[in-house]
Amino acid sequence: MSQTILTGIKPTGLPHIGNYFGAIKPALSYADDYTSFLFIADYHALTTFRSADDIKNHTRQIAAAWLALGVDPKKHVFYKQSDIPEIFELNWILSCFTPKGLLNRAHAYKAAVQLNMDTNKDYDLNINSGVFNYPVLMTADILLFQATHVPVGADQKQHVEIARDIAESINQKTGFSFTLPEPVINQEELLITGTDGQKMSKNYNNIIPIFIEEKQLRKTCMQIVTDSTPVEEPKDPDTCYVYQIFKHFLSKSDQHALAKRYEAGGLGYGTVKQELFECIRDYFKDARQRYAQLIENPQQIDELLVAGSNQARALASQTLLKLKNQLGLLR
Ligand code: TRP
Repeated sequence: MSQTILTGIKPTGLPHIGNYFGAIKPALSYADDYTSFLFIADYHALTTFRSADDIKNHTRQIAAAWLALGVDPKKHVFYKQSDIPEIFELNWILSCFTPKGLLNRAHAYKAAVQLNMDTNKDYDLNINSGVFNYPVLMTADILLFQATHVPVGADQKQHVEIARDIAESINQKTGFSFTLPEPVINQEELLITGTDGQKMSKNYNNIIPIFIEEKQLRKTCMQIVTDSTPVEEPKDPDTCYVYQIFKHFLSKSDQHALAKRYEAGGLGYGTVKQELFECIRDYFKDARQRYAQLIENPQQIDELLVAGSNQARALASQTLLKLKNQLGLLR
């Protein structure tokens, strides 16, 4: 059976190196063995709408970032969710096969309710029904393309399990045969250290962004927290955050060589931070150039997304037509 991977990217902040090693690089590499669908989940971002400019700019930036980091329209179907109306037809159909209780139990909705209850407010205060229905839309994203594998962060695992439950329910009730998707959790994502030693995350303000000016990048690397062991003394690479970050850029033998320099003594943290900065700068040099080029030509980004959406729609409409036929919705 052919295997299909699919993942959605919410158009929020630009990627940092934790996102790259934890999610982007592995997602891109699947295309060697799988049919690959990657899309900007702009409708999911609407649950926290701020402004039209915000959505538009973030969508272009995220698309440019992924394209710069290796999305190849020849290898990946790369599109924007809101360009595929078939997702929404499916969204309604699926909601009619989704027990409401299943959505009551979804973590994100439950957490929002809990927060209201803890502060003695009406339990659904300020929770829009997009938040409640979020897992159904995500299920439509996944099932429409018969994805077999869905790479996601650990926080999204439950949503893929819900997609599987909904697929089972509709298959059983209608005789349709949606593929049951499997979540693929990237373990490494948990392990990428931020500048303060916690997991790298925008929420902790400890990220190393990929697409920033050289000066800014150097400054960020210099801010990585280190202890006060004097230069001449031996150091333990395993407890050093600089090393923890550096190792993702190094081959096993280069990791080993750097660890030896730590253990030998005489290696100052300033030196190794400077080396890390140069390494990150060079590693993403081409990507940064491609990103700048794309951002200056938003038309180019839009054209690529339109081409991807056309490709995706051609496939989506076939599946949807079969399902509608099965449900008695066609003449
Ligand atoms: N909800 C996902 C997130 O917040 C994004 C997403 C939307 C997604 N649709 C998807 C991921 C379908 C995988 C498959 O990150």
